[in-house]
Amino acid sequence: MNNILRCYQGKRTLVTGGLGFIGSSLAIRLVELGARVTVVDSSVPGCGADEANLKPVRDSVAVLYRDIADTSALENHIRSADLVFNLAGEVSHTHSMKWPRRDAELNALAQLRFLESCARLRPGIRIVYAGTRQVYGRPRYLPVDENHPFCPVDFNGIHKAVAIQYHLLYAELGKLDAVVLNLTNIYGPRMALWEPCQGFLSVFLRRMLQRQQLQIFGDGSQLRDPLYVDDAVEAFLLAGAVPQLPSRLYNLGGPQALGLIQIAETCSRIAGGPPPALRPFPPDHKQIDIGNYRADWTRIRTELGWQPRTLFSEGISRALLFYQAEPRYHLRLDDPGPACGVRDELQDPLNLRRAAS
Ligand SMILES: NC(=O)c1ccc[n+]([C@@H]2O[C@H](COP(=O)([O-])OP(=O)(O)OC[C@H]3O[C@@H](n4cnc5c(N)ncnc54)[C@H](O)[C@@H]3O)[C@@H](O)[C@H]2O)c1
Repeated sequence: MNNILRCYQGKRTLVTGGLGFIGSSLAIRLVELGARVTVVDSSVPGCGADEANLKPVRDSVAVLYRDIADTSALENHIRSADLVFNLAGEVSHTHSMKWPRRDAELNALAQLRFLESCARLRPGIRIVYAGTRQVYGRPRYLPVDENHPFCPVDFNGIHKAVAIQYHLLYAELGKLDAVVLNLTNIYGPRMALWEPCQGFLSVFLRRMLQRQQLQIFGDGSQLRDPLYVDDAVEAFLLAGAVPQLPSRLYNLGGPQALGLIQIAETCSRIAGGPPPALRPFPPDHKQIDIGNYRADWTRIRTELGWQPRTLFSEGISRALLFYQAEPRYHLRLDDPGPACGVRDELQDPLNLRRAAS
């Protein structure tokens, strides 16, 4: 174990979004490190919440089924926390374009309410927030470092940029010890494969599991730097553990920048499926496509000693093995949801409040 991570022994941690993909992976690791973990998650419809994600540690984790904006319900938990990992949010760019106000509620307003409470009840507490590369928009240069301007191309990117700025402002004002990790495409066990619009790696894994052909929009040359979830979790743990942080914003990226066609070919080979096919971009995807992306993670390597370790072929094989253990469950074959990716109930903001209550 990295020596610095010994500090988690007995630490009281709040993990928002802890029923989701990355949050649950982090919660499991925190329990392994001896931390006391409370998860806050309102199981927002259309996001990746799944009770089963916490199965390995369910008896050791307290779960509050609450919206992070529901600050009165969280008061005592915020007051008694030593550290917050803030991963609550909606990842879907497509959802954000269909329902921008819903995305604003989830990714911006709820965050502001939550941060206000943290600053009031636990001034100065360390908060590690899950930002996104989407805030940079179409990169002006590669690799993208933390000085790249924020130019988001979709509502998700705009609202995440706002939430990042809230965190940075609270830190600047000395009210919270906030730090933001801008994540690239994260993949691994516990992604919501059954849920449409969760990004191309979720779609690829779903199709790999069924040995179906993978499809790529465009010419397949677009670069991405996928990051295995365990490596991302390691970065959250370091950002939570280092006593004095030299910076407030860090970019995370994977160890390799690969063309989408390379990614798809690797996936097809590992799954034993047919070779991938190229397809023209649907107009709604083209509008929000960011072209090539590769993160410059020099800052976090230099300042916190983090670097991505898992090569894509290794990580995607591990992920596939995880889903192959229970394919029917992960694909929800016995409980099919909407096939087309459109969920009418998401349009009704009241559903958010109902899900939270
Ligand atoms: N997965 C990626 O590739 C990726 C990339 C960039 C950034 N991120 C960020 O990382 C975080 C976690 O992403 P993930 O992939 O684990 O998504 P996920 O959908 O699997 O998990 C997010 C969880 O947050 C919960 N949630 C959302 N809004 C909430 C609220 N207001 N109150 C309480 N719970 C709420 C959802 O119910 C869900 O369980 C998100 O903030 C996302 O924007 C993820």
